[in-house]
Amino acid sequence: MTLHVAVIGSGPAGIYTAEALVKQSAEPVAVDVLERLPTPYGLVRYGVAPDHTSIKSIANYLRRVLELPQVRFLGGVTLGEHLSVEDLLGVYDAVVYCTGAMVDRKLGIPGEDLPGSVAATDFVNWYCGHPDVDPDRFTLDTSEVAVIGVGNVAVDVVRVLAKTAEELSATDVPHEVLERLGESQVKAIHMIGRRGPEHAKFTLKELRELGELANADVCVRPEEAVVLGGDFPRQVQGNIKVLQSWAAREPVGRPRRLDVRFWMRPVEILGSERVEGLKLERTRLSEDGRVVGTGEFETLPVGMVLRSVGYRSVPLPGVPFSERTMTVPNEAGRVREREYVAGWLKRGPTGVIGTNKSDAAETVRTLLADLDGRERVGHDGIGALLASRGVRPVTYDEWLAVEAAEAELAKTLGRGERVKLVGLEAMLRACRP
Ligand SMILES: Cc1cc2nc3c(=O)[nH]c(=O)nc-3n(C[C@H](O)[C@H](O)[C@H](O)COP(=O)(O)OP(=O)(O)OC[C@H]3O[C@@H](n4cnc5c(N)ncnc54)[C@H](O)[C@@H]3O)c2cc1C
Ligand SMILES: NC(=O)c1ccc[n+]([C@@H]2O[C@H](COP(=O)([O-])OP(=O)(O)OC[C@H]3O[C@@H](n4cnc5c(N)ncnc54)[C@H](OP(=O)(O)O)[C@@H]3O)[C@@H](O)[C@H]2O)c1
Repeated sequence: MTLHVAVIGSGPAGIYTAEALVKQSAEPVAVDVLERLPTPYGLVRYGVAPDHTSIKSIANYLRRVLELPQVRFLGGVTLGEHLSVEDLLGVYDAVVYCTGAMVDRKLGIPGEDLPGSVAATDFVNWYCGHPDVDPDRFTLDTSEVAVIGVGNVAVDVVRVLAKTAEELSATDVPHEVLERLGESQVKAIHMIGRRGPEHAKFTLKELRELGELANADVCVRPEEAVVLGGDFPRQVQGNIKVLQSWAAREPVGRPRRLDVRFWMRPVEILGSERVEGLKLERTRLSEDGRVVGTGEFETLPVGMVLRSVGYRSVPLPGVPFSERTMTVPNEAGRVREREYVAGWLKRGPTGVIGTNKSDAAETVRTLLADLDGRERVGHDGIGALLASRGVRPVTYDEWLAVEAAEAELAKTLGRGERVKLVGLEAMLRACRP
């Protein structure tokens, strides 16, 4: 008997889950990967920075999984809109939820909702050409921008703001977005950490890239680069060394300037109609390790605030969800009978792409052990069910047609290997001419 499994979401977690099912199952399996977009790969396509081409090439590995005979990609299908959990459990033996963490966490300070205060999730979606965000959404008509947070997403956002359009021309950034980046008025970028260099979440390789920007001077205040104590992991020691070397550097007059700040927390985004400034408070750690304000304030004259303080998952209709952890409660991936979870939805928005592979393998081990010897209810019924709802899923071959159109567009524009098509309509026109 064949084991029929639905994987919801085609990011790294979903595709590694499909791969683990094929590799680990002793009996024949049929895995359908259901994805709300017409395109696979989740944040590898719509998150990983466009200038990180070697990381983006992980898509070449993920592609081979989708090409396995046991695996089928069904794009344009949304759990909660086109199908319910009950629908899935009527057609499949098991369902694995892998829908990631697609929305921003809040700062919870006054002014957060002013125009010009932007979630990094939206900004990343914009430069990655995600169909949820209009390419005209951002104009970058301000000279100073603050980026809150010192994680790897903040570093990505800063790099995209600091680079010239020419530097990004060979990437897959949508052409409309590249034009907006070319018109950018941004001269100063402030990246703000609420704790010290030793607490920053960015990794050394990513940090070093900021020091190599051709178009921006990187500045760190010597007094903010001071770190007390010394028994830090190697990565952290590396970060501290790099930041302290920047603190000793003089700017050389590059067109843009990046100020990396520490021990400052945002307390208010200022402005009446739109963002006109950001009020910061100097911080220190309390005896019990909490970040507390010192009562010393500073205002930055920024016209845009990019909040890069982490992602969070959203509940799926009919699926248990913890509002405390913002994840789906599970035991080694098991949610309820025949329901499982993997990836960011399972463990929260941390870790690199590879972390999702071992995570998915754990979930699949649990699933196969649970279903071992149990009666099968799954069958190849999803096509008929979707047809009865008027949904025609995007097939893997149709996705390949979108890819081909993106390569063709790059050739026409004289830009790199591919340029992203923007909007669902353009993608559907490319795959269903
Ligand atoms: C901006 C950014 C840059 C990053 N850059 C790197 C990097 O350079 N290197 C690195 O190692 N890691 C990077 N990461 C981390 C990496 O992207 C994550 O570890 C990984 O993508 C998480 O995988 P996932 O499958 O859980 O989620 P996702 O990749 O988000 O995939 C979830 C998928 O589910 C789909 N979906 C959502 N809801 C539904 C629904 N209701 N029905 C059907 N489908 C649905 C989504 O469209 C999406 O395709 C980055 C993360 C971010 C946010
Ligand atoms: N190239 C890559 O490998 C790459 C690229 C992008 C993303 N990723 C991965 O994707 C995951 C998510 O990255 P991320 O950058 O979104 O999250 P992150 O690593 O958790 O960083 C979030 C940052 O926001 C800060 N922050 C949180 N709440 C705040 C508040 N209220 N006020 C001020 N600052 C606040 C955090 O500071 P505190 O530490 O003080 O809380 C931290 O500096 C990470 O695992 C990351 O490594 C990897």
